[in-house]
Amino acid sequence: MKNAVINGTGSYLPERSVTNQDLEAKLDTSHEWILTRTGISSRHVASEHETTSFMACKAAEKAVEASDIEANDIDLILVATCTPNHFFPSMACHVQKALKISKPIPAFDVSAACSGFVYAMDIARQYITSGTVKHVLVIGSESMSRALDWSDRSTCVLFGDGAGAVVLSASEKSGILASTLHALHDEEALLSYPNYATEPHKAFIGMRGNEVFKLAVNIMGDVVDEVLQDCHLQKSDINWLIPHQANIRIIQAIAKKLNLPMSQVIVTIENQGNTSAASIPLALDYSIREQRIKRGELLLIESFGGGMTWGAMVIRY
Ligand code: COA
Repeated sequence: MKNAVINGTGSYLPERSVTNQDLEAKLDTSHEWILTRTGISSRHVASEHETTSFMACKAAEKAVEASDIEANDIDLILVATCTPNHFFPSMACHVQKALKISKPIPAFDVSAACSGFVYAMDIARQYITSGTVKHVLVIGSESMSRALDWSDRSTCVLFGDGAGAVVLSASEKSGILASTLHALHDEEALLSYPNYATEPHKAFIGMRGNEVFKLAVNIMGDVVDEVLQDCHLQKSDINWLIPHQANIRIIQAIAKKLNLPMSQVIVTIENQGNTSAASIPLALDYSIREQRIKRGELLLIESFGGGMTWGAMVIRY
């Protein structure tokens, strides 16, 4: 059986950055409140032409460029997003067109909010390890700025836009070692983003932040134990934690649970905010390009989001 191995990565961030000071001028908030409660000081906000599909295509082009394959070698395209600019053609079909892939390979979007990238990576892994395909392009792309009520200070300061992509390839080498996914219907309406077509008056992200915070810390603590147990590894084997970037205090709590110093945690939240399904592939690409993460090292990725959905994955890079 072949393993699913990271072959190349890429990412895209919108040109415009919005600082906490910019928000202070429009909202009853402060740089200090946002930074101390969340760890965020600025976030990228997409301009009109920087749609979710545009950003997905840019990140995908870079990931293919960084890999040892050509776009036409790709057998499957998956785009994790909760903010598609079209329901169909899907974001994945847009990427297929942008990469000029002439074969009618399967391409579809994955909806699992902030956990979307971990979900899509797990799907890709199943396709590869079953021997069905050799190369999968997995992308997380989000325009969270278009899903926000910019007068709601409790949500609009938290999110940002961007995209990250990974080419996963079948290989004899070690790759994804274990993966675990979960979902449980959000009975309490802790996190939601209604469809504009059916609920136009409340088609923005709504969140009960404090309750989501507590749930995230508990659930993420459990899921990292579960995924490490699945691959018979110890916390001390992990070289890098690449967490979903929702709040620096949630990230610190998970690192503490893993006994990992923050120097072994990839943190991009300060200048990106929460980019939902794009946050892990953005952090992964950033740390690979900065040569922080090296081949052979053990990575733990984990995420939590609306649904509720959550998951974690151990990867030998
Ligand atoms: N600026 C200033 N004050 C703000 C504010 C802002 N942007 N947003 C909220 N406040 C106020 C609240 O109105 C509240 O005021 P009150 O005490 O007078 O009622 C006070 O700050 C505390 O609010 P609270 O929600 O208890 O703060 P918190 O410490 O829980 O921090 C979050 C809020 C949203 C930063 C935090 O709960 C969080 O990060 N939650 C998880 C979010 C998350 O991960 N979401 C995505 C999951 S994928």
